[in-house]
Amino acid sequence: MKILVSGAAGFIGSHVCERLLGEGHQVIGLDCFTDYYSRGIKEANLAGALSVSSFCLCEDDLNEASLDLLLDGCDLVIHLAAQAGVRSSWGEEFGQYLHHNIAATQKLLEAMKNFPGLRLVYASSSSVYGDAALFPTAEDCLCRPLSPYGVTKLAAEHLCRLYQQSFGFSVVILRFFTVYGPRQRPDMAFHRFIRAMLEGREIIIWGDGRQSRDFTFVNDIVDGIMAAGFREEALGQTFNLGGGNQASVNRVIDILQDKIGVKARVVYREKARGDVRDTLADISLAARLLGFAPRFGLEQGLQEEVEWLRTVIDAPEK
Ligand code: NAD
Ligand code: UGA
Repeated sequence: MKILVSGAAGFIGSHVCERLLGEGHQVIGLDCFTDYYSRGIKEANLAGALSVSSFCLCEDDLNEASLDLLLDGCDLVIHLAAQAGVRSSWGEEFGQYLHHNIAATQKLLEAMKNFPGLRLVYASSSSVYGDAALFPTAEDCLCRPLSPYGVTKLAAEHLCRLYQQSFGFSVVILRFFTVYGPRQRPDMAFHRFIRAMLEGREIIIWGDGRQSRDFTFVNDIVDGIMAAGFREEALGQTFNLGGGNQASVNRVIDILQDKIGVKARVVYREKARGDVRDTLADISLAARLLGFAPRFGLEQGLQEEVEWLRTVIDAPEK
């Protein structure tokens, strides 16, 4: 199959491209290399995909790209491009969230109107729930985001449903729960904690550290994306993809101290605005219709992220 992956140079997108290529698909990776984090990191993310001849990189913004040309002949679009990051979505930065999360999704959906057979998998987020009323949280729980980022991810979900209803596309919406593992974005907690511990710097914890997340290893997320892209039962559905690894931030620091063998120097600061207290996914729908069954426990997943960051930190500067 020929598949367009938006956000291909990012953390999750680069893993998705490698899996698709490994399974023999032809992949067009679209990414505009936003400056949210460094271009060098994104180029390193893409190195594996770029070494495969059936991968083609298109450096462009979804808002500007010639989507009619890119979508021609495609069977599936996996839409991961976004301005991520919960805590940085206030104030002036919100313009970036509107542009990359809402306007870009609308541009893609408009272009897809000309290709009725195409399937779209949209990467949404646990942040749409805000502080959920029920745990584990099922997909039909009230969505009341706590951050402007969450508002834009939910708005884009609604756009996807609206275009599905009005133009008959096949859409699958996936709500990822805090993803981690090799290539995790440098603004995310585990990346910051591990790097600080390896470099002997302080760790800042926002709040009391007792906030918890249903942490999900990136390979498990890729399994869920693949099932959403290829299984008939997925069509028209919204699925939670959570890792079954609920842990507090303090617990993660304890595990990392054991794995890295150094005592963390932790400084507690005021809770960050926009941060939810807890997340825990009900994944029974994804288990039933996608065959989703996370395989990576937190200990193993953290080990893999620590090993990856050791190689990144030890690598000579380019
Ligand atoms: P990332 O920032 O590493 O990757 C996103 C990529 O999209 C970047 O390389 C960026 O340059 C590109 N991009 C952004 N706007 C674009 C545009 N307009 N046109 C083309 N490219 C554009 O982020 P990630 O952590 O890999 O997240 C991928 C997706 O998953 C996002 O939609 C995010 O909201 C969602 N998500 C991530 C997590 C997580 O824990 N990482 C959790 C829930 C949802
Ligand atoms: C993550 C992603 O960054 C979002 O893109 C995504 O949409 C969201 O998951 C989701 O599941 O929907 P978040 O849960 O905030 O967001 O993940 P982290 O950035 O890894 O933070 C986890 C916790 O650690 C938060 O409570 C945060 O405040 C805390 N943290 C983070 C710190 O205490 N210190 C830090 O230096 C970084």
